[in-house]
Amino acid sequence: MNQPGGRGRFITLEGGEGAGKTTSMNYLCERLHDAGVRVLRTREPGGTPLGEKMRELLLDTQHTALHADTELLLMFAARAQHLHEVILPALARGDWVVCDRFTDATYAYQGGGRGIDSGRIALLEDWVQQGLQPDTTLLFDLPVAQGLARAGRRGELDRFEQEQQAFFEQVREAYLARARQYPQRFRIIDAGQEMQAVQRQLDRVIDSWFDAAADPVEA
Ligand code: TMP
Repeated sequence: MNQPGGRGRFITLEGGEGAGKTTSMNYLCERLHDAGVRVLRTREPGGTPLGEKMRELLLDTQHTALHADTELLLMFAARAQHLHEVILPALARGDWVVCDRFTDATYAYQGGGRGIDSGRIALLEDWVQQGLQPDTTLLFDLPVAQGLARAGRRGELDRFEQEQQAFFEQVREAYLARARQYPQRFRIIDAGQEMQAVQRQLDRVIDSWFDAAADPVEA
């Protein structure tokens, strides 16, 4: 099943630490696959051999001196490669792209968390994406303390996971502000619930895509 006009649907998953994105990503991709959708599953930072190397640099806890501007530029450098090498060709083929984090994460982490002015992020966004935006963004939202408790159980922490609770409160606020700013694109998933309840919320979103595809007037 493809989008009207042949272009695939671009779906992004966002949220703070410990929001259960990976489990939800598995569920979402499986449901789409079962419905006959060609799905390309990818992530940021990363998604290409070069981008994955940049991811290693970004997450490495040894880089304590990494300036916020450098961090921002590396995120967009990896994104440019990802777009040209993977995302745009897949969408052009009619595949659906499901991406674990995209530019809303930059507004949340580098904007909200690091305090970079959103106007500067928008300049890079326009330059790199040239108008491309996700069709739907699923924001997995939960109280910061609950997310950190979950993430902490997973062992060694990366450079972002080592941040303090105040940083993640700002990340969460910035995500919620993005959702308020773009209500047509965002679907907020209450990620504080049990897995099955989260999946029921996802089912409603997935069903709405299929309903829209079945009714071209609504699509
Ligand atoms: P992950 O934990 O979802 O795999 O993502 C890796 C980290 O990268 C996560 O802590 C959020 C961070 N990140 C940013 O700070 N800015 C971005 O633009 C992206 C895509 C991720």
